[in-house]
This record gives sequence, structure tokens and C-alpha cells, in this order.
Amino acid sequence: MPGAHPAIELQGLTKTFGSIVANKDIDLTVYNGEILALLGENGSGKTTLMNMLSGIYRPDAGHIRVNGKEVHIRSPHDAIALGIGMIHQHFKLVDVLSVQDNIVLGTTGHYANRKQLAREIRDLCDRFGLHIDPARKIYSLSVSEKQTVEILKVLYRGARTLVLDEPTAVLTPQEIDRLFAILRRMRDEGCAIIIITHKLNEVLEISDRVTILRKGHCIGTVNTKETTARELTERMVGAAVDLSIHRPEPLRDAPMLDVHHLTVVNGDGVKALDDVNFSIAAGEILGVAGVAGSGQKELCEAIAGLQPIAGGAILCQHVSLEGLSPREIIRRGVSMSFIPEDRLGMGLVPSMGMVDNMLLKEYQNQPGALVDRAPARDLANRLVKELNISTPSIHTPVRKLSGGNVQKVLLGREIASNPRILITAYPVRGLDINSSMTIYRMLNEQKQKGVAVLYIGEDLDVLLELCDRIMVLCGGKVTGIVPAQEVTKEQLGLMMTGASMEEAMQNG
Ligand SMILES: Nc1ncnc2c1ncn2[C@@H]1O[C@H](COP(=O)(O)OP(=O)(O)OP(=O)(O)O)[C@@H](O)[C@H]1O
Ligand SMILES: [Mg+2]
Repeated sequence: MPGAHPAIELQGLTKTFGSIVANKDIDLTVYNGEILALLGENGSGKTTLMNMLSGIYRPDAGHIRVNGKEVHIRSPHDAIALGIGMIHQHFKLVDVLSVQDNIVLGTTGHYANRKQLAREIRDLCDRFGLHIDPARKIYSLSVSEKQTVEILKVLYRGARTLVLDEPTAVLTPQEIDRLFAILRRMRDEGCAIIIITHKLNEVLEISDRVTILRKGHCIGTVNTKETTARELTERMVGAAVDLSIHRPEPLRDAPMLDVHHLTVVNGDGVKALDDVNFSIAAGEILGVAGVAGSGQKELCEAIAGLQPIAGGAILCQHVSLEGLSPREIIRRGVSMSFIPEDRLGMGLVPSMGMVDNMLLKEYQNQPGALVDRAPARDLANRLVKELNISTPSIHTPVRKLSGGNVQKVLLGREIASNPRILITAYPVRGLDINSSMTIYRMLNEQKQKGVAVLYIGEDLDVLLELCDRIMVLCGGKVTGIVPAQEVTKEQLGLMMTGASMEEAMQNG
């Protein structure tokens, strides 16, 4: 970037955790007025590097310069004083307080004058194109609105460098567009932005340059305009990667799962699912598309027996699952993995290692009271090998694994129970491209074994490539079920916002 001034220069940064070298001798520069993408496989050291910049970790070695001056960042407070703000994946907001109160929380300013404060917040919003009502309580906000508050919070504290760690992982396509508009506006205002994302199309869309990490080392930096998804993947992984998703012919066997007139009412008396009808054949992948909160979670939970149903029926090979406990439903071959926005709240116990987490599911098949750990140990070892899970040991608490590896453990455990129906929601959230490909392969293998797969996804391109048919949900209702090969992304988008299949087909 000739002519521009470096906002941040990292030089020779190294950080180890015990025997793990998370970052080794890393150089990185971000200029004022640019968006830099930080790319690397799960566990390559991206978050660790950014945590040193934002004062959460102290480097073992190396130098950090801010606006050309060497600094020592000892705490997040130091970082913000230097104009560096980080937006973490897990938000740090106080639910019961308002947007405005969260923004000033922890600042030492004279914010007794609430009118003036409200005006300052409004000015910031106008300047950067943010839309949020300062009086609203955090608990009433969507994920994307909470993220806006986090951004506002660091801007209010005077941040000129913004670090975002996987900000788009849990946003809808429309929310991502809105976030990117905000980031471009900040760039145009002269801010420096570092964004971590695993989605290569986002890297290509939003960044000016890309810095690539591999196994804790910096592999290099390229101009976004001069690179491709293929080249970025190769540099990130260190080998050529096949980026095409295969779609084996469906077996078109007998229906495995039948859902008739399913209605689910949530706690507020609102219909979360309204007269939903579909079936999945053995050896078929049915995709589900929809903006977040369209009933996906309730659908998974209803089938798995975790959510009472208000009407309709769910049949597995023509036998009703009604009235069965979740455990009995698992015994009938229904397996569910749901990767929520908070990845660790998903059916694994974070403080336990892989073996014990395998036992959580495995014990269901054991007759006696005494637990034999050997099968769980074998399974854990097999998964580590087959799925290339990176963990110091099969007994390391899973919370210490990187996000991608946690997801492989979860899906691997579900598949190992040999299900007849596999329900999987957002299985590649936060996963790097290589791991995502592994997951798609795993799902296709299940399909070819005759499993009925319900795949709830966010990425429309992936839904179109992987699934046999796609069901679109909008506000708890099915707007259509279409063969994946006969529909476009635009048509899906229209149906996601409520257009009927006929309308979408005419307009898309
Ligand atoms: N607090 C910690 N204690 C021990 N090991 C850690 C700690 N934080 C990170 N690591 C290890 O350091 C390495 C880099 O982790 P990091 O979280 O920086 O990766 P990442 O690139 O952000 O991965 P992801 O894409 O999955 O978020 C990993 O091997 C991880 O297990
Ligand atoms: Mg990370």
C-alpha cells in the first residue's frame, strides 16, 4: 500500500502454550484505510495473534508498533487506549442493560449527561451507518444487532483499528451485507480493519489484502485483486484442495422420515412451526434453507423428542415417534447434531475429553451399570485418525480444542452411532474450508449408506451443491420444496423471505 501509513505492525510475534507453538515469528502489517483478511485453517493461530494485539495474551517474543511507535500492550484496557478494538465471537454484553448503558459501561467518562451521550451515540451511528436504538435492552436484540452494539462500543472508545474474529459465522446473507457496508464505511473513514473469516468468497469480496497463516507460521500476504479462492486455499493448506462438492445419485429408497402437518408452539404461544410437511428417503439429503430463527431449531428438536409438538406426526419408517423419550428416539436410529451460535453449548461437555464425551452417547448401548471405557477409547482414536482431529490427547478437555476440531468430534460421534436418520444443523459453522469439505464427504458417505440426512445450512451455494432437494422455511412455514438442481440462489433467497415457490420461479 504505497503512500499509506501502517496502523499496526507486528514483527516476529511468538506465543507458546506449553508445548504448543500457536504463533511463531509472525510479521503482519495493516494500514490505515484498508481491510486486511487473516486466513488460516482451524488452529493455525489467528485468534491467538489477535489476542496479543488486543491485550488478552502477552507475546513471548516480538514487537508491536502502533502508528510507527513501539508499544507494550498489557491488557485490553491498554489496547483500547491505543485505539485498538476487538469484536470477539462471544459477545461481552450485559443482557439486562440497554444498548446505551452497555456502551458506556467501564468507561470513566462523564456520562451523567444522558442527553449528550445519546447524541454522541447517534452521531457515531450516522457517521458509520449503524442502525440501533440506544434505549433497547440487549436481551431483545438479534445476534447481528448485538454485534452492532459491540462495534459501536469500541468506536465510542475511540478505536481506529478494529479486529473482528469470525464476525459473519452466525449472520444471515442480508446481515453480512449490512456488516460489510459498515466495514467499508469505516475503511473510507481511515480506520484499519482486520477480519478473520473462513469463507473465501467473503475474503475476496471485502478485503484489500490477505495474510495467510499455516500451523502458527505466516505464509505471506497477497493483494486480494491478484488472487483466487484456489490459490488462497493452497497456500493456507500447503497442498492442492479439491473445492468441488460431489452429489452422488440419491438411492431413492423408501421414505425413512415422514413429517405430517407438524406444528410446534413456543413459550410465547407463537407457532414456531406451522403445518410442516415433508419426507426424506433413505439415501437422500434434504437441505433446509431459511433465515435464522425460521423454525430450524424447533424442527430439529421436535424430531429428536426434545420439543413437545402441538399437532401433526413424525414417523420413522412409518412408526410414530410421538410420546417417546429422546433416548428411545436415539435407540430407533435418530441422531441429531446442532451447532448453535455458541459452539460449546452443543451436546459436548467442555471440561471432559473426547473419550468421556463419546461415553455420553455410547453408554446408551451398554447393558450393565459398569461402564467399559475401551470402546469409547477406540472410537476416539479412530475419529482422531479419520477426521484428522488435532488434539494433544483423547483425554484433553474439548474446550481446549479449536472450534473446528470440536465440531469434528461432535459430528464424528453422531455418525459413529450408525443412525438411520441424521439431522445436522450448521455443521460447518466456523470450520475452515478443508474441514468443511471433510464434513460434506462424511455426509455423502452417510447418504450412500442409506441414511436419511436432514441438512440445515446457511450457505446457499453449499445447499445447492450438496443436497438432493431443498426445503425453504420462512416464519415456521414451508414456502417450498425444490430439487436442488432446478433452483437458483436468487430463487431460494426470495422463498426465504416469504415468496411462494411459483412467485420465486417467475421472478428469480
Ligand atoms: N489458552 C490456550 N491454551 C492452550 N492452547 C491454546 C490456547 N489458545 C489456543 N491454543 C492452541 O493454539 C493453537 C492456535 O489456536 P487459535 O485459537 O489461535 O487458532 P485459530 O486459527 O483461531 O483457529 P479457529 O479457526 O479454529 O478459530 C491451537 O492449537 C490451540 O489449541
Ligand atoms: Mg479462532
